[in-house]
Amino acid sequence: MGDMIRTQVGIVGAGPAGLLLSHLLHLQGIESVLVEARSRQYVEERVRAGLLEQGTADLMVESGVGERLKREGLVHHGIYLRFGGGTHHIDFKELANRCVVVYPQNKVVADLFDARLAAGGRIFFEVDDVSLHDFSDARAQARPKIRFRANGQLEEVECDFIAGCDGFHGVCRPSIPEGALTVYDRIYPFGWLGILAEAPPSSDELIYAYHERGFALLSMRSPEISRLYIQCAPDEDIREWPDDRIWEELHKRLATADGKWKLTEGPILQKGVTGMRSFVVEPMQHGKLFLAGDAAHIVPPTGAKGLNLAASDVLVLSRALREFYASGRKELIESYSKTCLRRIWKAQRFSWWMTSMLHLFNTDNAFDRRRQLAELDYVTSSRAASQTLAENYVGLPME
Ligand code: FAD
Ligand code: PHB
Repeated sequence: MGDMIRTQVGIVGAGPAGLLLSHLLHLQGIESVLVEARSRQYVEERVRAGLLEQGTADLMVESGVGERLKREGLVHHGIYLRFGGGTHHIDFKELANRCVVVYPQNKVVADLFDARLAAGGRIFFEVDDVSLHDFSDARAQARPKIRFRANGQLEEVECDFIAGCDGFHGVCRPSIPEGALTVYDRIYPFGWLGILAEAPPSSDELIYAYHERGFALLSMRSPEISRLYIQCAPDEDIREWPDDRIWEELHKRLATADGKWKLTEGPILQKGVTGMRSFVVEPMQHGKLFLAGDAAHIVPPTGAKGLNLAASDVLVLSRALREFYASGRKELIESYSKTCLRRIWKAQRFSWWMTSMLHLFNTDNAFDRRRQLAELDYVTSSRAASQTLAENYVGLPME
């Protein structure tokens, strides 16, 4: 076994949640160690979310990791909803006085790795056989431990608290005894086929399109790179989607009635299928273990909330730990789950609502299609309704 490693907070998973937590704790003088199953390169190259709520972008800037975000982030003041051949703008600036920022998750993660490593932060990469010990009883004397194998050697991190930031398929949530947790789950009968294309985005802001062939989304990563999605079967075989077929489908679903709008094509750099689910586990803590981000909840991507929820969870957790280490008071630690869940459930509701409004469900009949169109008409013609969309999309208050 390697040397015994002691720290204040042991963090499992170096995705956005784990890295941001480690960074925020460091700013508060709290020491942590990160334990990550993959390599730095793998985590940085994984293509995932692309949209930050203003509050998430502000948090990056205020905590000193926002230099590149300020330079390269694309500030968007609204989105377009396209249906029935027409395009309707939802103006976030006017309706909610907030904006969102297009800045890919890869860059968020890379900026946080740079900051952690520059500050001497300790990260174990490519670990195996991670297990959690002595965390169940919040009052027990024994300190929690994370055991794992790194470079073939057994290691142990002993800490005051464990943060489970290891995503949906991690080990932390399943380490909690069954029966201590309640799961709320919904699986959707479709997925998204997503591509990254070397093509300048064909729109200044995102386009969410409702179409009789299924939902489509035009997003972007930079002025040179488009990110596009189409609704597909949850188990869609990507091999059946040569590039030509993807472009053809995108052209059809994103078309306007007047035929004037044009979608720019380019070489496809990456493609993949993502399933869609809504998932929440309650509570998000058990003894001295706290779950944050995808380890505790999943949203369908239609509301662009996944990464933003991970950020708000770890902000709440970092404040609770600061209070504990500064004063010994446990109130904020004990209310961590309750505080997070209020915001999470509202983001769940919003993500479910956007998903329900914009996708074709296999149970739909002609009535449901008309109802969806009426809803889109209402959302784009009533100030109250468009304001509701806007204030949820830009992000509800962090606490
Ligand atoms: P993750 O990013 O999953 O990070 C968890 C980390 O823990 C990973 O680095 C993982 O390697 C590591 N880990 C796992 N198991 C272990 C273990 N046993 N030991 C140690 N480390 C471990 N959101 C959007 O808003 N828009 C999108 O388009 C979008 N697309 C997505 C596509 C995919 C395929 C997925 C999976 C998610 C997508 N999301 C999207 C959601 C968004 O990316 C997540 O909400 C966000 O990554 C959550 O961050 P996290 O740190 O909680 O979890
Ligand atoms: C993305 O750019 O990947 C993206 C943007 C908005 C969404 C989902 C995904 O709602």
